Amino acid sequence: MAKWVWLAALLCGSQAAVLPPPWADVRRNPCAAHPKGWLMLYWPADGKCYTIYKKGHPCPDTQELSPGRWGGRTVAECKCPPGTAQLPHTTTCHKLFERGPCRPGEYFAPVEESFNKRGERQGMCVRPQQCADETLLYWPADGRCYYRMTQGPCYPGAILDAGRDGLANCTCLIGGPHHWTVDGGCYAHYTRGPCEKGQLFLPGARCGCEKHLPQYHDETGACYELDTLGPCSKGHTFSVTDVTSEGSKAECRCKSFHARASDGACYRLYTRGPCAHDEMIARGGRCTKVPCARGRLYVAARRRCYRPGAPEPCPAGEVVAFDLEARPALDGLSHNGVCACGSGACTRKEVEACSSRRYTASYNGTCHILHTQGPCGEGAWLVRDSYRVRCQCRPDSPSECTEDEGAS
Ligand SMILES: *[C@@H]1O[C@H](CO)[C@@H](O)[C@H](O)[C@H]1NC(C)=O
Ligand SMILES: *[C@@H]1O[C@H](CO)[C@@H](O)[C@H](O)[C@H]1NC(C)=O
Repeated sequence: MAKWVWLAALLCGSQAAVLPPPWADVRRNPCAAHPKGWLMLYWPADGKCYTIYKKGHPCPDTQELSPGRWGGRTVAECKCPPGTAQLPHTTTCHKLFERGPCRPGEYFAPVEESFNKRGERQGMCVRPQQCADETLLYWPADGRCYYRMTQGPCYPGAILDAGRDGLANCTCLIGGPHHWTVDGGCYAHYTRGPCEKGQLFLPGARCGCEKHLPQYHDETGACYELDTLGPCSKGHTFSVTDVTSEGSKAECRCKSFHARASDGACYRLYTRGPCAHDEMIARGGRCTKVPCARGRLYVAARRRCYRPGAPEPCPAGEVVAFDLEARPALDGLSHNGVCACGSGACTRKEVEACSSRRYTASYNGTCHILHTQGPCGEGAWLVRDSYRVRCQCRPDSPSECTEDEGAS
């Protein structure tokens, strides 16, 4: 709350936020006379006070009144609400990750806010990435591909399918083959869905468990979803190991990147597991001495240890990093070193992606939207001419504008 009080002081016409509190003074702060004046921003164009974060007037319909910065001062400005964005030079906000203002087959993607000085939430139209095959759909919000007709990134009760616009959509078709009338949700077949433990949601939209299913587990006489823990103990996954002429059967086996140790349990490779304190689980489940000095990580492909951040065993732009897939609380400390993008590294890939889009360009190593002020000075905008990307004075700019020769 204190923040808004301070804001109101700055916004509502006072020259300096000095004692006594200027927002209490109606002569200095036109908003102070209002009940809840601290929730209001002063709009100079009509000299009135408006409620903060409200959509519409004095802003365009889809924008909301927000506090913004202007040359070190706080001012009221119209912004797109979170989760929405506008195209450069427009004031209409569209939902992100949907078609919005884009052509069929494209979706509206956010441009990082840091890319433009004004703090506008800007978006641009992009084509979804290709997934490996037709059974998968691209989900723009996390940049991953998910199987159709599975829950994927959707809330429980919805499943992923292609919408009318061809983009992935979380949906639930009432009366469809995935619709469970009892709770009104939709669930993927052969998952537990809305069913009791030991049963699966089967085609025909019913809960059941049948002996002929690969998901059937003899010992417990129940059915479990494939590639989950199922009836198994820690470190295992309930998966189909081999397919025979009588059909396939799932069984408990070690999860990938895990090995069975002498105690019969599965442990993540290069963690301590049941081994002595200076040992780790190696491939095959043996306990071996940790080969690394303190603070170093083991890179199995090189059978050597490296300091985190070392570029040496990794592809260009990547460095040795901790294995974030290992969960210390569950797996214990991991000695595994993986290659990952370092800070400022892998920029090459990003720069390429930035330069290949029509609306964006890389300037001084950062991606910006063309024909916006971006990194340029007052009155200038970013343009791409045949040779380079540079700041140019806008045709309508006042005289005091600085251009440049371009940065790479
Ligand atoms: C996405 O799914 C929802 C819920 O079923 C539906 O209302 C909406 O029309 C779908 N959108 C598209 C573009 O198909
Ligand atoms: C380029 O970026 C560097 C570091 O981020 C900064 O110091 C420099 O001023 C920038 N140059 C221009 C022309 O914006």
